[in-house]
Amino acid sequence: MRPLFEVLTPGSEEWSLAESIDPARLPAHIAIIMDGNGRWARSRNLPRVAGHRAGAEAVRQTVETCARLGIRALTLYAFSAENWKRPASEVNTLWNLLHLYLRQEMPTLQEGNIRLRPIGRMEALPAAVQEELRAAERATSSNTGLQVYLALNYGGRLELVDAFNSILEHARRTRSLHKLQIDEAMIASHLYTAGVPDPDLLIRTSGEMRISNFLLWQIAYAEIYVTNVLWPDFTRKDLLVAILDYQQRDRRFGGLGADVTQPAADLSHAGLGF
Ligand code: FPP
Repeated sequence: MRPLFEVLTPGSEEWSLAESIDPARLPAHIAIIMDGNGRWARSRNLPRVAGHRAGAEAVRQTVETCARLGIRALTLYAFSAENWKRPASEVNTLWNLLHLYLRQEMPTLQEGNIRLRPIGRMEALPAAVQEELRAAERATSSNTGLQVYLALNYGGRLELVDAFNSILEHARRTRSLHKLQIDEAMIASHLYTAGVPDPDLLIRTSGEMRISNFLLWQIAYAEIYVTNVLWPDFTRKDLLVAILDYQQRDRRFGGLGADVTQPAADLSHAGLGF
């Protein structure tokens, strides 16, 4: 797949945004809560499914842009464990759109060296969807470029429950339950995203200030970017703006920023228990 600059028009707004991005400080992993499909449709007097259809197009462009930029991992919240509460017709439309996406995008995924992996409780998905996802995962398994994680029937709390059960199961199998000591590295290695760096940047569209049970463990130090843009309107330009915003953040991971030279205030007498 050609790098981003080869598909941008010199002098365009996207071109100058892309030029302002520091390629050495790209987020390694971007996670996105794609929200606002329904509102996008309602504002146009269209059925909700039209919003999801337009949302699938935004998925296509976002995946392509991340691959062209050289982002390592992208996790998309496509169907939460709570989304089953929606009318069956809407749920079925979402599976049909996923089916279409997998069919149509396979050549792009292969050409772009993009690997696709579903995460979530796959066993509850319709059998045909599970089979297609397995096939797509197999077909792209040796691709070494952008890793796309599609969160389907996903819940952050469920993922933690699954991780703890997997730790227990492993300890039982290896007869080491009596000496089991759980630490952070062990939990991380039993998550669906084991081996993937945690998201550096979490994007949420449609202005909602919520995490909605997404990647609860992994986003501990993610920079959060909320935009009012509804997901179907989220373009390449919006992604570039989000990355630029991320590059202006001072990531401290609980320590002091690079530009802080003053010693920390002595709070030992402040009665705060530090
Ligand atoms: C949230 O909008 C979006 C979803 C629940 C589904 C996301 C699905 C897609 C983007 C399309 C298909 C996906 C792939 C991977 C091809 P909402 O319906 O909650 O919007 P609202 O809050 O405005 O009602």
